[in-house]
Amino acid sequence: MPVKVAVNGYGTIGKRIASAILKNSDFHLVGVAKYTPDYKTIIAAKQGIRIFVPRDEAEAFKSLGIEPEGYVDYLFEEAELIYDASPGGQGAKNKELYIKYRKPAVFQGGEDPSVAEISYSTLCNYSSTLGKRYIRVVSCNTTGLLRILCSLGVANIRRVFATIIRRASDPGEDMKGPVNSIRVDSTRIPSHHGLDVKTVIGNVDVETVAVAVPTTLMHMHVIEVMLKNTPCASIEELRKQGRGRIVTVSSTLADSTGKLLEIARDIGRPRNDVYENIVFTNMFSCREDRLVLIQAVHQEAIVIPENIDVAYGIMNIETDVYKVVDKVNSLLGIGQLHVM
Ligand SMILES: NC(=O)c1ccc[n+]([C@@H]2O[C@H](COP(=O)([O-])OP(=O)(O)OC[C@H]3O[C@@H](n4cnc5c(N)ncnc54)[C@H](OP(=O)(O)O)[C@@H]3O)[C@@H](O)[C@H]2O)c1
Repeated sequence: MPVKVAVNGYGTIGKRIASAILKNSDFHLVGVAKYTPDYKTIIAAKQGIRIFVPRDEAEAFKSLGIEPEGYVDYLFEEAELIYDASPGGQGAKNKELYIKYRKPAVFQGGEDPSVAEISYSTLCNYSSTLGKRYIRVVSCNTTGLLRILCSLGVANIRRVFATIIRRASDPGEDMKGPVNSIRVDSTRIPSHHGLDVKTVIGNVDVETVAVAVPTTLMHMHVIEVMLKNTPCASIEELRKQGRGRIVTVSSTLADSTGKLLEIARDIGRPRNDVYENIVFTNMFSCREDRLVLIQAVHQEAIVIPENIDVAYGIMNIETDVYKVVDKVNSLLGIGQLHVM
């Protein structure tokens, strides 16, 4: 029987998790919790997604022509697994409800790590998910960094320094910025991203700095890794260890995030989503013990494969990480973004 899944919060991440669940016969989407009656609700309802709302908001949804399926607490009762995709910090408050309804839950990277038993990224610590009830999938930038580091092998890493060039906001968030500035995105070194990496791989020497730039189209990372063993990895080896989640594109063919999202459009990806880390082939240098690379990370999409992978662990469906990765890759069409 498919596992019954609820998605609590239907924004950038929640709607993508819901779409991925709908493609997967191992899971059944019971419905989504929506808190504000808006255009996203209308579109979801038209797609046949069952909408659950807070009791005191039901009339507002009805006045928009949307008949809610029920109240949010009904959704939690019906589900066997809850994805929390609420705004950062809200998940910790919602956890009280998940405990009350005795349901396991997957949280997102905007939550403090203490919300969950473990912070998670598939290529690093899938086996730790088995038997857990509360797991936090780390954020987009952290996922992008961890896929690289765990593909290189954590035991082989001496030191990491990464510069994160962060998108200002998601496309629909037209109230956010910066609009015409480059903003230092942290009050200290390291930025929180490096600390977040350590919540998954432990006390590895990782330092990050971040700036935010006026774009909605992906992040870029410039990463330097000092390795313990030489010769250092080839780009082919990195791609192989990345199990489809890391692909390479030459910047002589596509040198910008705009062009990468155009490729996603051209290959028919839903919402132009790029689930893979895109490492620029010609921006990869490995000499002796020093590896440098530039990669692009699609903030809206990169955590979606990890969110689906984790369900196989938390629900004790599959112990073999590679079977899970192959299955989720195949469901999301990961691997169709051709190597150039
Ligand atoms: N966007 C990214 O680039 C990105 C990438 C990786 C991870 N994350 C993480 O994913 C999480 C969600 O981020 P997001 O970008 O998807 O946020 P978002 O687009 O702002 O969506 C948040 C959703 O939460 C809903 N919500 C409001 N109150 C809620 C409550 N009490 N309980 C549950 N849901 C509630 C909102 O519903 P209404 O619209 O109905 O009010 C909204 O749909 C955060 O932890 C974030 O850090 C985000």
